[in-house]
Amino acid sequence: MNSPQDWTPASWRARRALQLPTYSDPAALQDAEQRLSTLPPLVVPAEVAQFTDRLARVARGEAFLLQGGDCAESFDDLEEQAVESTFRVILQMAVVLTYAAACPVVKVGRIAGQFAKPRSAETETIDGVTLPSYRGDIVNASGFTAQDRRADPERMLAAYWRSATTLNLLRALSQGGAADLHEVHGWTADFVRASPQGERFTELADRIAQSLAFMGACGFDAVRAPQLHAVEFYTSHEALHLHYEQALTRFNARDQRWYGGSGHMLWLGERTRGLDDAHVEYLRGVANAIGVKLGPSATADDVLRLLDRLDPERRPGRIVLISRMGSGAVADRLPPLLRAVRGSGHAPVWCCDPMHGNTVTSSNGFKTRDFDRILQELRGFFAAHAQEGTHAGGLHFEMTGQDVTECRGGAQLLTDEGLASRYRSACDPRLNGSQSLELAFEIADVLKADRR
Ligand code: PEP
Ligand code: CO
Repeated sequence: MNSPQDWTPASWRARRALQLPTYSDPAALQDAEQRLSTLPPLVVPAEVAQFTDRLARVARGEAFLLQGGDCAESFDDLEEQAVESTFRVILQMAVVLTYAAACPVVKVGRIAGQFAKPRSAETETIDGVTLPSYRGDIVNASGFTAQDRRADPERMLAAYWRSATTLNLLRALSQGGAADLHEVHGWTADFVRASPQGERFTELADRIAQSLAFMGACGFDAVRAPQLHAVEFYTSHEALHLHYEQALTRFNARDQRWYGGSGHMLWLGERTRGLDDAHVEYLRGVANAIGVKLGPSATADDVLRLLDRLDPERRPGRIVLISRMGSGAVADRLPPLLRAVRGSGHAPVWCCDPMHGNTVTSSNGFKTRDFDRILQELRGFFAAHAQEGTHAGGLHFEMTGQDVTECRGGAQLLTDEGLASRYRSACDPRLNGSQSLELAFEIADVLKADRR
């Protein structure tokens, strides 16, 4: 049960590697990789094992996966506020879903390492000036000067330290009392409180408080129930920057496996899932939970080959297939994949990313997404699973706890004109705290209906 014999943390280097930066100074790159490789990993094998066990429950239909966070984290974000508000909104969404479906929710952030972005073009041209594309803060800067866009290997170390700081805060928030269910009323951000979602959440929080009081009156000792005081919160990011991932790969003597030390779950992007390419090669050898994005071009054959390559042992909880078809394509494209996987003997988690197939440009030039389309894709995802008798296991989405204006619609009725006021994403448009909560209530209604 070891990592594959014909694999090393560097074996990806012999394969075609898409979407990696070009560094002008190979010695500086090597030096940065070497220093990274001596630093402690950010996550440890025991946590990965626990997380894999939780995912296995999702695969069996006993739990729901909630994976959300930034499209791309930024080095400039006000760390505490950005991390804490995102964490709280994910907790709120999880409470809404747990309450509705009476089903445990496995919570994962796109956080503490989501710094590398695939791009559709190598370069960007503005007013006749052409520069390399922005590839995420781990590679270069989003500003538009030659200096900003130069790929700088020192940024890998900055990403590591930034991730460590974020993870430290997340561990404190999840274990240190902030996630205590007795504090549920305090989780709502001020800007959400007065909204219809905020009010709906307050009603839910009231019911939870009443239940806790009732249990207390019956003699249930809440002090001794750790589930009420702390949460398990896991981290994930796209394993795009393979120099960084390799430098943080560690061997675990206890189970004789290699682990990616940069996050609990690593995922393979839609643009880099070529079977014989570098990213698949790297991920097949590490024992972390692996996500695989599947867009509308994915065939049943692609999916089965990827499953065989990434999970030949068929370990429960190892693979999360993340469908991102687009609201118009999900009804056609997803069912054949569900059927093929169902008959294959693999039992991955199926999760829906209703964001990346639904990106459009607004009339005033913003990259945006419509709340209705997002919801429509999610409903299509649930319908496809109901039709095929498989488990719709989770949601993968881009959000922030902050009051941004990046996606259109929702109860806030955000319009094209409204996007300009607080559009902050350096990459894809995210749901704000209020829209995220609204989405959770919508999914809760679907889950409730499913359970009936
Ligand atoms: C992402 O999740 O930010 C992303 C780039 O997704 P995809 O690979 O599905 O396009
Ligand atoms: Co994105």
